[in-house]
Amino acid sequence: MARIAVIPGDGIGTEVLEQGVRVLEHLAPAEGLAFDWNWLPYGADRYLETGVSITSDEMQALERDHDAIYLGALGDPRVKSNQHAKDILLGMRFELDLFINLRPCKLLDARYCPLKGKGPEDLRFTVFRENTEGLYTGVGGQFKRGTSDEVAIEAELNTRKGVERIVRAAYAFADERGLRRVCMSDKSNAMRHGHDLWQRVWREVAAEYPGVESRHLYVDALCMELVRAPESFDVIVTNNLFGDIVTDLGAQLQGGIGLAASGNLHPGKVAMFEPVHGSAPPLAGKGVANPLAAVLSAGMMVGWLGRPDLEDRLEVAVGKCLQAGRVTGELGGDLCTTAAADAVISYL
Ligand code: IPM
Ligand code: MN
Repeated sequence: MARIAVIPGDGIGTEVLEQGVRVLEHLAPAEGLAFDWNWLPYGADRYLETGVSITSDEMQALERDHDAIYLGALGDPRVKSNQHAKDILLGMRFELDLFINLRPCKLLDARYCPLKGKGPEDLRFTVFRENTEGLYTGVGGQFKRGTSDEVAIEAELNTRKGVERIVRAAYAFADERGLRRVCMSDKSNAMRHGHDLWQRVWREVAAEYPGVESRHLYVDALCMELVRAPESFDVIVTNNLFGDIVTDLGAQLQGGIGLAASGNLHPGKVAMFEPVHGSAPPLAGKGVANPLAAVLSAGMMVGWLGRPDLEDRLEVAVGKCLQAGRVTGELGGDLCTTAAADAVISYL
């Protein structure tokens, strides 16, 4: 029995997670799987009612009582500060120390790629985004706020340990899967301290993997190359903010943000899986949200829980939906959220 914490969150988060759960429930009996879904109400409604986003006991219980966490999306126009999203989403990443944000970019059908002449064989790379430091720590401050002399500092925090563990994770992943090429991306031509640390750590780790082709690109050049020649990438490793940006670019290359899945991981600890997209307030409650990113994230979750065969099956089924055009409106189909998940189930 796998005990899963389900945090649907806000907006379309709930709609897409319901479908992800339904798809896994459909697979479970024939596969000898059983899930115990623990639905948790952390999100904007609770925050607005009670002022609480997530308590430290609740955060600890996520880790103590569950095998995995399945998250929808957080963000609500009523919470201007986005405080609850920071507390819950970034809270899980930081407090549960989920240092790997693994974001696969895989084109399942050429028709959905905005690049001319590129097919599934050209677009299958995985981004290892550092997930616990960088520009996301909130280190810094404001001084003389609201005056004409205002100063605002956002410090980028890079630790030797933090950089090393994400770079190592990327190389180990490439090595285990027989992927030939790892690209590290930073901005060491402009950022002389933190990114010099990335350079030194990366060179050290790369030297331990002579069988892997190591490459470096400044992040601006990486964006260019991802559009020009995505086929030249297998694994990309980069810092928190660059990984955030580059994976939205990658999401579009694979057909749109409605298809992008992710896992927040730390081997040996509880892991959290979520679609890359947000809560999309204008789409919420209309039944038009694309559930495929949530389904693919559920696939990554069962893969992590020991069933990579089912992860592959889900991906194949999603690919068939795309090939048949049995998809939601933003992908050119005419299915509602539930029907799009039905289509996945029909191919399982
Ligand atoms: C993501 C999101 C988050 C991030 C936001 C909601 C803080 O964009 O998961 O990519 O920047 O990490
Ligand atoms: Mn993002």
